[in-house]
Amino acid sequence: MEKELINKLKYLINKKKSLSQICEELELKDYEVIGIVELLKQDGFLADYIDGEIVKLKRPVKDNDIYQVPTNSENLKLCLISDTHLCSKYDRLDILNYIYEKADKRGIKHILHSGDFTDGKSKRPEHVYELKELSYDGQVDYCVDKYPKVEGITTYAIQGNHDNWWYKSTGSEILKSIAKQRDDIVYLGSDYADIKIGKIKIRLFHGNGGISYAKSYKLQKYLDGIPIEDMPQILQTGHIHQSFYMKQDNTHCFQTSCLEDLTPYARSQGFAGDRSCWWLDIESDNKGNIYNIEMELESFGNKRVRR
Ligand SMILES: [Fe+2]
Repeated sequence: MEKELINKLKYLINKKKSLSQICEELELKDYEVIGIVELLKQDGFLADYIDGEIVKLKRPVKDNDIYQVPTNSENLKLCLISDTHLCSKYDRLDILNYIYEKADKRGIKHILHSGDFTDGKSKRPEHVYELKELSYDGQVDYCVDKYPKVEGITTYAIQGNHDNWWYKSTGSEILKSIAKQRDDIVYLGSDYADIKIGKIKIRLFHGNGGISYAKSYKLQKYLDGIPIEDMPQILQTGHIHQSFYMKQDNTHCFQTSCLEDLTPYARSQGFAGDRSCWWLDIESDNKGNIYNIEMELESFGNKRVRR
């Protein structure tokens, strides 16, 4: 399909033009426009044909409390990231940019983020000395301006406890404000969300509280609490800034670490933390049963990533 036509169609949908105006501008029949939108949806474009019009959506459609992202491929490539803590003086935008460039080269269309998108602002007085931006608006603008943007890649994200500090102090969801200004960032909710990409059900979960004596303990307890019929095929968790993989029953669990350097607070508390992301290549049958999953943990240590 002509790229120019697709870009023009996306532009007209974003401008909230009616279906008849779109048809006139593009010199297409209505069923042709609806057909193209159906194809674009398979690539993650958030729009739908509702009540006779093409409507731009902020989030994927929900069915049974699960966000539905259609894709016609039985091979799903994903990148899992977490705890970017943007606006901290210790954030690692260099790694984040590197990941998005690599994702683009690998043909990845979906990146999942399991919370602590921003560093937020805590009640701890000395936290202000660790922040690049102190205000809500400042943190929103920083993320809107600096979060990597790559054509064709959509980031699906939840809020973590750091993002939620803004909700507690101002009643506003900072990730919602960021996503409002970025078509490629989709805010799925606070703390957890279920999303189905193609036939694969994925749960994003942030977590809270301290680290238990064994790092997998809380995750195992969490899995024990999910009814069998609600079990996702992939569980991605954040919060503890460390990575590991485990499989329980039919659920592949990816604990995802952070993308920030150790902060003075983390050092003072003796917290560990590593910088990494997961690259997944998933093969499933047409019912969504995963029969092969290739996983790669890319670890960044403390090195700067040269671009
Ligand atoms: Fe975090």
